[in-house]
Amino acid sequence: MNMTNNSNTNDPKIIVALDYADAASALNLVNQLDPALCRLKVGKELFTAVGPQFIEELTGANFGVFLDLKFHDIPNTVAKACSAASNLGVWMLNVHASGGLEMMQAARQAVDNSDIKPLLIAVTVLTSMNQAGLNQIGIQTDLATHVLNLAKLTQQAGLDGVVCSALEATTLRSQLGNDFCLVTPGIRPAHASQDDQSRVVTPADALKNGSSYLVIGRPITQATHPLKALEAIHAECIHI
Ligand code: C5P
Repeated sequence: MNMTNNSNTNDPKIIVALDYADAASALNLVNQLDPALCRLKVGKELFTAVGPQFIEELTGANFGVFLDLKFHDIPNTVAKACSAASNLGVWMLNVHASGGLEMMQAARQAVDNSDIKPLLIAVTVLTSMNQAGLNQIGIQTDLATHVLNLAKLTQQAGLDGVVCSALEATTLRSQLGNDFCLVTPGIRPAHASQDDQSRVVTPADALKNGSSYLVIGRPITQATHPLKALEAIHAECIHI
């Protein structure tokens, strides 16, 4: 599979971030969306509040689910968490690359041994982290170099890709090849509010930069008509 292929209904490029505190609020949005046009991202807040049954409810409604729990622990524990997540039938899950090569390899093996094999990606450096924050935890390497090093380690461990800024996608795509999946948040259509994101990229530019999938929250979840907002962004993606 060429991860840089553009949008089509079989492999929607938009992942809507379900940043909600409870199932009712999340379902109110989900019921307005179309699984042919998007997948859904469930993170720590919603998952901790509503649990695994909710994931099965989403997959039962034909939505691909990115379970964004960013596992980071000893290899054995991460492997078991990845097996459990795979058994929920999710489409994608993730770990922290800074857990190291052995941890990521254990995650890879666990997913490969599962009946359902989700895409397995890693977070390199959280975008909330800056150079000073890296230095504080003892990493003196330049931030961009550290992101690239962790992305290369992720590829060496056999994972399918990384979460990264769409601004980093051009470099990572050229360094890591076309089959490596780049999942990029911080996306804003040209007309939309930036909210609290400081470095944003339009959906079209993110795809041109080499993004494989776009994580989009508030431009869809806070829209007056979420489905219309999704359809408009989807239309922008398929014309790239
Ligand atoms: O509403 P918005 O489009 O900004 O939501 C983006 C989603 O992507 C949120 O769930 C946010 O936590 C997540 N995210 C991000 N930046 C990262 C990693 C994840 O915005 N570096």
